[in-house]
Formats: sequence, structure tokens, C-alpha cells
Amino acid sequence: MNNLLKGKRGIIFGALDPNSIAWKVAQRCHQEGATFTLTNAPVALRFGAINHLAQESNARVIPADVTSDTDIQNLIDKSVEGLGGKIDFILHSVGMSLNIRKGKAYTELDYEMLKKTLDISAISLHRLLKICMEKDAVNDWGSIVALTYIAAQRVFPDYNEMADAKALLESIARMAGYYYGMKRKVRVNTISQSPTRTTAGSGVKGFDSFFEYADAMSPLGNANAEDCANYCVVMFSDLTRMVTMQNLYHDGGFSTMGVSNSVMDRIK
Ligand SMILES: NC(=O)c1ccc[n+]([C@@H]2O[C@H](COP(=O)([O-])OP(=O)(O)OC[C@H]3O[C@@H](n4cnc5c(N)ncnc54)[C@H](O)[C@@H]3O)[C@@H](O)[C@H]2O)c1
Repeated sequence: MNNLLKGKRGIIFGALDPNSIAWKVAQRCHQEGATFTLTNAPVALRFGAINHLAQESNARVIPADVTSDTDIQNLIDKSVEGLGGKIDFILHSVGMSLNIRKGKAYTELDYEMLKKTLDISAISLHRLLKICMEKDAVNDWGSIVALTYIAAQRVFPDYNEMADAKALLESIARMAGYYYGMKRKVRVNTISQSPTRTTAGSGVKGFDSFFEYADAMSPLGNANAEDCANYCVVMFSDLTRMVTMQNLYHDGGFSTMGVSNSVMDRIK
């Protein structure tokens, strides 16, 4: 390994089980010499899997529901205190759609559920950055990354209300990137990841066809969770210190394709 994150302190949201993208990110950050806090919703922590990750990566687990100011304030305070200084990187790897869970189609959205979905999946990034700014908890040139999906730009019907949530998330990253950049040279970016087999991913209707289609469209094939973890490490490192306010496609080329021969062959 290359010690790319040696001496850096971080907070990693969203490691639920070994399939989670955040799980792989935590493992790679550990290998690259970072120390960090792991966090997830109290209800998700009850499954207990995260304790294995915490042990192997020498991390502390601090529960926080991303919709709670108090929880996020506590998380930031305890992380700065426990890690011994201000934070250098944060991974926001959080998503949840209540309407998808309840099988509601986009044309029949329940608005109370939509509000909750937006709160968890997008506004949480604003809340997190606002609290970090208030507490001046992130070091100059720190790096914040949130995970997103190309349904923010293009229509994938079964991605449902999460398309709107991701569009909002990406906008918040741009706006916050301006304010945090001006104030502290902190960078804020989103990584737009290929379909990946995880709990959140598999919740989307027709996920397998979705996955196969993207794979067949992309010259390099789908990027997997390990690839995504590598990209996150680079984004957290000093090698990318002038990259901010970007939506970075990490998708094997999918986002630039119109159609591939492989997809054409399938519909002949
Ligand atoms: N899997 C994919 O195909 C794919 C593709 C592109 C982007 N993403 C994004 O990657 C991120 C991580 O998802 P994943 O695929 O690793 O699935 P995952 O289910 O492993 O992770 C989602 C996490 O969000 C957490 N979460 C939900 N509600 C929360 C709350 N109120 N407070 C705190 N945490 C909460 C869950 O506990 C879980 O750990 C999400 O933003 C997702 O939209 C996933």
C-alpha cells in the first residue's frame, strides 16, 4: 500500500454489511494509514456486523441518525475528541427510499415518505456540512465525498424518487463546495457509481437487469465496490487537492455511451 492517507482522520457513514460500498472504503482507508470513526443509524447498528469492521480497522463506532442534528453534533464532537484532532475526510454513503420500500410508483408518491427520503438521502449532507462548519471541525484542504447515481441526470424509471434525491444531493455538494472552499479550502465532491450489488442497490426494482444493462453498455464494465473504494481513497488524499464541486463518474465509461455493440446485439 502507499500510505496515501497516513496521519489523516476521517468519518465514514453507511457501512451496514460487507457488501456496503462504505465497508470497502473503510478497509482501504485503513490500509492507507487513516484513522476514522464508523457511523450508521442506531437501528442499523443493531445487526452488529459493523463491530467486526471496527475491530479490523481499529475504529470507534458512533451511532448517528443522519436526520438528527443532535446525533450529528455528538458524532462530530466525539470524533474530533477521539481521533485527536480535526477531521480530514468524510464519506457520505447514505441512501434510503421509503416509497421504493413500500412499492409506491413515481406517479403515486406519498409526500410524507418523499420528505423523509430527501431528508435521509440528500439534506443529510447539508446538515453534516453545516454542523462541521459551525464547529470548524474539518482541516484546511479536507475532502468530503458523497455517493450518487446517474439517475440524477438521466431517466431510469425504477430508480423512482431516489433520482430526485440524488439530484438534490449533487446540488448540495456543489453549493456547499463553494461555501466550504471559500471558508476553509475544504473540497466537496460526489462520486457517481455504477450499479453495485448491496442492500440499498438491490432494493431497486429489476436491479439485476439494471446491473447487466450497465455492464453491457460500459466499455470497462461496471465499476465494483472495491474500485469505488480506491477512487474514494484518491479523492481523500492530497493528490486531488484542487478537485472540488464535481460530480465524478466512476462507471467504466457508461455515462458517455449512447449505445454499445453488446447492447445492440441483444435486441437484434
Ligand atoms: N448500490 C448501488 O448500485 C449504488 C450505485 C450508486 C450509488 N449508490 C449509493 O451509495 C451509497 C451507499 O449505498 P450502498 O449501495 O453501499 O448500500 P448500503 O445499503 O450498504 O448503504 C446504505 C446505508 O445508508 C444507511 N442509512 C439509511 N438510513 C440512515 C439514517 N437515517 N441515518 C444514517 N444512516 C442511514 C444504511 O444503514 C446503510 O448503511 C448510497 O448513497 C447509494 O445511493 C449505490
